[in-house]
Amino acid sequence: MSDTGTSLPKALGDPRWSELEHLRRTSPMSDAVLDEVRGRHIRSGDHWLIDFASCNYLGFDCDPEIIDAVDPAIRHWGTHPSWSRLLGSPRLYPEIEERLTALLGAPDTLLLPTATLIHASVIPVLADRGHVFVEAAAHRTVYDGCVSARGQGATLHRFHADRPEELAAMVRAAPAGATRLVCLDGVNSMSGDIADVPGLARICREADATLYIDDTHGFGVVGERGPGEPCPYGFRGNSVVRHTGETYDNIVLVGGFSKAYSSLLAFLALPTRLKEHLKVAAAPYLYSGPSPTASLATALAGLEVNDRRGDAIRAELYRKTVRVLDHVAGLGVPTLNSDRLPIVEIPLADAADLDAVAGFLWQEGIYVTLAAYPLVPRDRVGFRVQLTALNSDADIGRLNTVLTRLFARFPPRPGS
Ligand SMILES: Cc1ncc(COP(=O)(O)O)c(C=O)c1O
Repeated sequence: MSDTGTSLPKALGDPRWSELEHLRRTSPMSDAVLDEVRGRHIRSGDHWLIDFASCNYLGFDCDPEIIDAVDPAIRHWGTHPSWSRLLGSPRLYPEIEERLTALLGAPDTLLLPTATLIHASVIPVLADRGHVFVEAAAHRTVYDGCVSARGQGATLHRFHADRPEELAAMVRAAPAGATRLVCLDGVNSMSGDIADVPGLARICREADATLYIDDTHGFGVVGERGPGEPCPYGFRGNSVVRHTGETYDNIVLVGGFSKAYSSLLAFLALPTRLKEHLKVAAAPYLYSGPSPTASLATALAGLEVNDRRGDAIRAELYRKTVRVLDHVAGLGVPTLNSDRLPIVEIPLADAADLDAVAGFLWQEGIYVTLAAYPLVPRDRVGFRVQLTALNSDADIGRLNTVLTRLFARFPPRPGS
């Protein structure tokens, strides 16, 4: 491929992206091409690595029962429905929505292909030219949805989840009668922390605001609490609203099947009247291609497996996560993880070490997500380890050994 003779847009030289672009070009762990996958062992060229970068938390990507659901569904429905949802939906859609509504204990649910599409289309509808409050560490796709709402006439504000009084004052200060929408991650995609949903919901209900939660990482991992729960993630993986003992009053929940369920599908949990409105007001329902049949089939099979085996899988996920967290804590290495979810982000003492750290982990056969600037603020540059139930105990042992050697060579950031 060559750019010869093409005039390139000025944006290509934007210095904001130069560090990430450097990493993308030079690190084998960035923009990699993978040649083979065997469970959590992956091959790039002739180099095998243990995968700690996927978000396939429950291991459903390799579950034989779920894989077996694909072929019959494709034979029945073809590879791709290809109608927009407003034109028509294979019966798989209402089947998934009914199961999901029951699992979440929500008033209703609406399926669309991805959380990215949901944020881009639904946040502007909910904002309705009013006031949108976006949490400082919200996922980029949530933020982009809020920026799109601003482009359609809303006023955008930023708040910090750990300063609820700041949010309460901002929400109260919005003009009487104006729509208020508060947006954030449920389980934060970088730190793995669980938002204080009860505290935020209280603020929103007092001001008649809507709390819009992206729980793409929590769905399938955390769920309702109760006596006899197999681990602190709770039962059923039915997401952060249930995990924190909340109701859906004034809450719109967004979740995705693209993490724990290893499928290309996402949902909103919402009141039925809002669902009906979005069928004409949210562009992807009207104009976008739908999820492929294989994704619908794996989502449905995943819900079935979750009912029967999900809690045991989550207990395994928790046990393996704790093994890594305890080891890292024993090394005196601080992480951003405070809720023991399987997202372990480790900031480096010196951001300039990221290239060398990535090279070391690659050589040692450990595949992680690099957290480079501007994906994270400069003081949080480092890497993220994501655990899944499919990582074996031997994989975890190897990871811990490599981390010990890594932090002997690159001193960790001083603990906070
Ligand atoms: C918090 C969060 N929201 C949304 C997304 C995007 O999800 P989807 O793949 O369904 O568009 C991601 C994916 O990385 C995410 O981490």
